[in-house]
Amino acid sequence: MGRVQDKVVLLTGGAMGLGKAAAKALLSQGATVIISDYNAEAGHATAAELGERCHFIEQDVTDWARWGAVIAEVEARFGRLDVLVNNAAITVYGSIADLSPEDFRRCFTFDVDSIFMGCKAAIPLIAKSGGGSIVNFSSAAGVKANADLAAYNSAKAAVPMLTKSIALYCARERNGVRVNCVQPGTILTPNVESVIAGTPDPDATREAFSLAQPIGRMGEPEDIAHLIVYLASDESKFATGAAFAVDGGLSMA
Ligand SMILES: NC(=O)c1ccc[n+]([C@@H]2O[C@H](COP(=O)([O-])OP(=O)(O)OC[C@H]3O[C@@H](n4cnc5c(N)ncnc54)[C@H](O)[C@@H]3O)[C@@H](O)[C@H]2O)c1
Repeated sequence: MGRVQDKVVLLTGGAMGLGKAAAKALLSQGATVIISDYNAEAGHATAAELGERCHFIEQDVTDWARWGAVIAEVEARFGRLDVLVNNAAITVYGSIADLSPEDFRRCFTFDVDSIFMGCKAAIPLIAKSGGGSIVNFSSAAGVKANADLAAYNSAKAAVPMLTKSIALYCARERNGVRVNCVQPGTILTPNVESVIAGTPDPDATREAFSLAQPIGRMGEPEDIAHLIVYLASDESKFATGAAFAVDGGLSMA
């Protein structure tokens, strides 16, 4: 019996990175996982790689009409929804001087509006399924500021407050839906690898990225995947409205 046995999970941005690692961990604990992504090629490949309980639906999480269609498809094909993981997001780099208003708006559209839309679309079906869990992705960057992350810092800081408001609404409704968020430190995903490789001195960047965490190294995708399994499972049944930092101490330094 797995820790999330027979739960139906919708996980956005599951084609790669932390989403893919979380999908793998949830599958290993007995869940059925529907990954969605706007990168259809990578999404199909990941679902095929992760096995028959992993399914792929193409979705741009910034598209409100598509959210309605995706939730309707999940209900039609799987009959229920127990868990939503709002993982898809982008990092927009730049200081207040570098960023255009359009850059700033794009970061919020991808990283905050998408979570608002996902929760709004999914809560009725999770409630109808008997209650469940929503996990939103914030970041240590939502706690600790950086002069060159004005948009990403503020978008990721909005996520815990949005999470709390939605958690309070669900608690007031007594609909059985818990809502929490996660705040990873720097995790060595393929994308972070390519960011490091693209800098003028990759070795120095790798060292700096590692030392940003007081424990002296970057995290692994599985470090976050274990937390997602906990929050998706009934083990976390008393947790709602909380922000869970798994960040090597980054946010306290
Ligand atoms: N990797 C880190 O160090 C780190 C640290 C803190 C927080 N996070 C957060 O963790 C989450 C996952 O990060 P990651 O490093 O795995 O990212 P990633 O860029 O490797 O993967 C993100 C996935 O989301 C998809 N995606 C992006 N925008 C989308 C959209 N509009 N619609 C559908 N799919 C979309 C991408 O195609 C990709 O498959 C993000 O919310 C990120 O902000 C990551």
